[in-house]
Amino acid sequence: MELRAATLSDAPAMAELHRSCFDVPWSVDTFTTFLATEQAFVLGKPIQAFIMVRTSVDEAEILTLAVAQQWQRHGLATRLLAHILAALAQHSVRRIFLEVACDNHAACALYSKIGFLQVGVRQEYYIRPNGHAMDAKILSYVLDDTNDVKKLDESDHNSHRIQYDGWKQNGRSH
Ligand SMILES: CC(C)(COP(=O)(O)OP(=O)(O)OC[C@H]1O[C@@H](n2cnc3c(N)ncnc32)[C@H](O)[C@@H]1OP(=O)(O)O)[C@@H](O)C(=O)NCCC(=O)NCCS
Repeated sequence: MELRAATLSDAPAMAELHRSCFDVPWSVDTFTTFLATEQAFVLGKPIQAFIMVRTSVDEAEILTLAVAQQWQRHGLATRLLAHILAALAQHSVRRIFLEVACDNHAACALYSKIGFLQVGVRQEYYIRPNGHAMDAKILSYVLDDTNDVKKLDESDHNSHRIQYDGWKQNGRSH
């Protein structure tokens, strides 16, 4: 499955996939706005998975990650994370953060397997459509010699070509 940098024209497909994965969907406009400045990569044609990351000097935040239900548990999220971590390392990012709902066991297991560690909790961070509040775990991954991103990424032969294509140099990224 092809991995490539997302473009503005991917916004509708990304919004549709996001809607199928999350209680509170992001609109096409939201994706269009984010895609103008943030780093994003997609897998598949039509798109079956994507990741979006915001960088700020030597830190980054994973804004969203989604895999189509029929493709879950096939290693797509691992592949996207491996690419983005390798690309971030190349762009001098040293620490990556994200928030994940405490009851999102699939995502918690994924990030734990990659090597993310919990560094905090945001109380009642997510409000469910039924009004129920859910805490978020704050997870962090440190890009240093002990977290060998190359090893994560080496399963993909195209990684060195792909990960740098489409890396945004303007806007909030730098
Ligand atoms: C969480 C999500 C991104 C995982 O994507 P994926 O492509 O299925 O993940 P992978 O196939 O790369 O799985 C890697 C590891 O994560 C863990 N994992 C993934 N899905 C899991 C599940 N449903 N239950 C338990 N562990 C799971 C496993 O350890 C898995 O390794 P294994 O298959 O060898 O056991 C996907 O389920 C998804 O899109 N969920 C809805 C949106 C979401 O929650 N996004 C994350 C927001 S922070």
